[in-house]
Amino acid sequence: MAEIDILPANRTSADGPKTYRVKSFGCQMNVYDGERMAEMLDERGILPAAEGEDADLVVLNTCHIREKAAEKVYSDIGRLEKAGRKAGKAPLIAVAGCVAQAEGEEIMARAPAVSMVVGPQAYHRLPAMVDAAVAGQRSTDTDMPADAKFAALPRRRKSAPSAFLTVQEGCDKFCTYCVVPYTRGAEISRPYAALVEEAERLVEAGAREITLLGQNVNAWTGSDDKGRSVGLAGLIHALDRIGGLERIRYTTSHPADMDDALIAAHGEVAKLMPYLHLPVQSGNDRVLRAMNRSHTAEGYLRLLERFRAARPGMAISGDFIVGFPGETEAEFADTLSLVAEVGYAAAFSFKYSPRPGTPAAAMDGQVAEEVMDERLQRLQAALQRDSRAFNHSKSGETCDVLVERKGRREGQWIGKSPWLQSVHFYGDAAIGDMVRVTLGEAGPNSAAGTPV
Ligand code: SAH
Ligand code: SF4
Ligand code: F3S
Repeated sequence: MAEIDILPANRTSADGPKTYRVKSFGCQMNVYDGERMAEMLDERGILPAAEGEDADLVVLNTCHIREKAAEKVYSDIGRLEKAGRKAGKAPLIAVAGCVAQAEGEEIMARAPAVSMVVGPQAYHRLPAMVDAAVAGQRSTDTDMPADAKFAALPRRRKSAPSAFLTVQEGCDKFCTYCVVPYTRGAEISRPYAALVEEAERLVEAGAREITLLGQNVNAWTGSDDKGRSVGLAGLIHALDRIGGLERIRYTTSHPADMDDALIAAHGEVAKLMPYLHLPVQSGNDRVLRAMNRSHTAEGYLRLLERFRAARPGMAISGDFIVGFPGETEAEFADTLSLVAEVGYAAAFSFKYSPRPGTPAAAMDGQVAEEVMDERLQRLQAALQRDSRAFNHSKSGETCDVLVERKGRREGQWIGKSPWLQSVHFYGDAAIGDMVRVTLGEAGPNSAAGTPV
């Protein structure tokens, strides 16, 4: 841990922080990490700041995936500084996550108000860094030890009804546009026993649904309790045996790491929800090759057919990038054709954003912003049409909704269907209940349900 001995301007190092706030951006793995950092601060007796109140310690848990996401950090730091000046007491600021990993030194140089920079593989050291910050020392820790972090984290004591559990981290795929292999490091799998144990603790703490997370979650491998080597399906079967756990999900998968056992699990494990997030990025094979995706459009479609055969009616979601360097209009049209063929229930689509140090950023044929805007609009119109069609196809079905929060109206509750639709209904319920409803018509973002 490198320490630099300067007290950030306008900070007094009176007592340690009494309250904290962790703000997570980016993917669900950052949400998981944010929760773990919060738990470590809880153990230190630092309390979560009340809604609307300034915190003594702010952790910005950042995302580097696209330029806009990365720039947010500096505007957030500026806002915190301003609020601190107004209140006469600047908060301690820690920058965590993928921007910390990628631009740690630059942050330290550019933002004197930041006293801690901690990467995604080093955040178990946050409490020690807070101590150093209180003593007036700025510190940076962006080490990437294999998996020391998890062993050093506290036992799970709190959980929402729907919990995240990181099982795999890092990425060896090196898609040519992507920063993740650089910010999260090489693929590692957490051990089977540690994961079953963490899942059991989460269920004891109130989780009824667990989503297994990894940048390449289906690359997870381990040895089960009998010493047999298993893939993600083996872990899912183990979680299936945990009483009180009712739903299992996993994300994000890569087409190249799919195996027969995982496909079959969708037909065998009732707790495994009928939903698959499988990014494709493009429907054109030349673009896919230039992206280093290691799958073709056809291969992707055949894979989805096998999932749908194992679990009919399953919801498919995906990620797309428009305007990858060199993408022609005809190549983009292949993406639209693939979309029409799949019929996505949900999707995330982005304009290509050149990221420093990635091969695609240096490729010829960078696509003009207006062209990307126009392609994104057309793609999103098609994806919206399909998600409406999917919701319509489920209307009239009766299913369980896991209640996650109160709605805005009196007596209204909001939860998720098995297909991950957001469902709102009126009735007697509580957070964490599994309520049986009949699905009605759906709007763009949610479906109405009627309890049965
Ligand atoms: N491991 C996952 C998620 C990666 S990040 C996967 O392989 O799909 C989530 C999504 O962000 C990606 O699927 C991709 O669609 C998008 N993305 C990644 N890098 C990007 C970039 N440079 N510009 C635009 N979108 C990007
Ligand atoms: Fe990024 Fe590709 Fe790895 Fe996904 S598989 S994290 S898009 S490099
Ligand atoms: Fe962003 Fe890092 Fe996740 S770059 S998407 S927070 S892995």
